[in-house]
Amino acid sequence: MKRPGLFITLEGIDGTGKSTQYRLLVSYLKKLGCSVCATREPGGTRVGERIRRILLASSTKKMSALAELVLMYAARAQHLEEVVRPALARGQMVLSDRFNDASMAYQGYGRKLGTKTVRALDRIVCGPTQPDLTLMLDLSPGVALRRAQGRELRRNSRHGRFEAEGLKFHKRVRRGYLALARQDPKRIKVVKADRPVDEVQSEIRKLVEECLARHRRGKT
Ligand code: TYD
Repeated sequence: MKRPGLFITLEGIDGTGKSTQYRLLVSYLKKLGCSVCATREPGGTRVGERIRRILLASSTKKMSALAELVLMYAARAQHLEEVVRPALARGQMVLSDRFNDASMAYQGYGRKLGTKTVRALDRIVCGPTQPDLTLMLDLSPGVALRRAQGRELRRNSRHGRFEAEGLKFHKRVRRGYLALARQDPKRIKVVKADRPVDEVQSEIRKLVEECLARHRRGKT
């Protein structure tokens, strides 16, 4: 199904520097004159941000893996209807800090729910609205987790539910992301994140520009 807009997502385990790269990319694309809809998950809408608080708070002690997955998709359903699909229909470039690959990696692999369960929900909620390009920032989970936990300490905040998960969990999540990238190498591009910020950013920009050029030629 063709649509006028372009849908790009940024993914990776916690602590890869994804948010910094995301901010730099948004301002670069705006400077280029692209009409950008910058958004994030879980969240991106009022309802979604409320769900996000439940999902990430360390005070949310006991939550079943399936409840977590369904809440992620509840926020996503709202996000798609309210933000993503209208922006794509207007011909905007939608840039989302995380989207459905995060559910596959975190809940499917990390929480061991399996990809079948996640895909079943995905067919209902996302259907044909899938990213055109996904930039997956990759870093060894040991380094990434130390960075993510260090950042929380600097902010003087307690670890969120996901940062508080151990190394084993993050190793499974990374394995999940890499498996997804192997299955769909045309869409998911693995970007090595153990490099200076500007090097990572130039690779990201190059990949986005290539995708934009393909889209303009009508091949995405
Ligand atoms: P993120 O916004 O990247 O957190 P931060 O900006 O504080 O690094 O993501 C929040 C957390 O939610 C992250 O640990 C990954 C998790 N997550 C899932 O487990 N499944 C999902 O489908 C999504 C979108 C996020």
